[in-house]
Amino acid sequence: MMKIVILTGAGMSAESGLTTFRDSGGLWEGYDVMEVASVYGWQNDPDKVLRFYNERRKQALNAVPNKGHKALAQLEDYFNVSVITQNVDKLHEKAGSTNVIHLHGEIDKARSSVDPDLIYNIGDSDIKLGDLCEKGSQLRPHIVWFGEIVPMMETAIKVAKKADIFIVIGTSLVVYPAAGLLEYVSDDTQVYIIDPAKPDIQIKQNYHFVGNSAAKGTPELVQELIKEIDT
Ligand code: OAD
Repeated sequence: MMKIVILTGAGMSAESGLTTFRDSGGLWEGYDVMEVASVYGWQNDPDKVLRFYNERRKQALNAVPNKGHKALAQLEDYFNVSVITQNVDKLHEKAGSTNVIHLHGEIDKARSSVDPDLIYNIGDSDIKLGDLCEKGSQLRPHIVWFGEIVPMMETAIKVAKKADIFIVIGTSLVVYPAAGLLEYVSDDTQVYIIDPAKPDIQIKQNYHFVGNSAAKGTPELVQELIKEIDT
């Protein structure tokens, strides 16, 4: 079976009503990223960080997958599919994707602030100051913040290297190391980039830019790929 690897960012979930980060009106216009999504922010004002993610959690878990998420799940009937996402929402899983690597964490989980292996499913519950892990330390969102390593990166690199087809959807490709994944994709691999705005990267010969939204461009590309292997 051919291997399709998909890298998604906030634009994937924009048509599910979740705001992106860097577009006009994006989250980082309303919030200082260092105050709410960094190690410094957590040390400086943990309550503010918790409130920021409590709000994100409610929004993300109330959202429903769009036609783009659903089309990616459908690909699994025809291809060996891995989704690598920077999104902390669970919309790929809700749509039916079964092999999802979360590079930047998952909003429906909390973890210990002293032991990164102590991870708890919390669903849509808030995390409050005073909520403790079993070792007695404050719970924090299971999110990778600026200034932290990305533990799933090694896994993602291995997967990216195996891609026969690589699809990038709705990411500005400015946040590393995630943005560097494209460097591990072979020059023989066809790369499709679906985004209304062309990302500011060097477009190589094997890259195909699809200037469309995730909910429109993804189902179209998926249909084309399925048609190609059916013929
Ligand atoms: P950005 O907000 O940086 O980029 C969103 C991308 O989605 C842009 O390229 C938009 O053009 C595109 N876009 C907007 N609407 C779209 C639509 N309907 N369909 C398809 N694409 C659309 O978001 P990310 O690249 O995901 O990390 O940002 C990467 C990381 O930066 C995030 O995971 C987050 C953030 O800080 C952390 O919080 C750790």
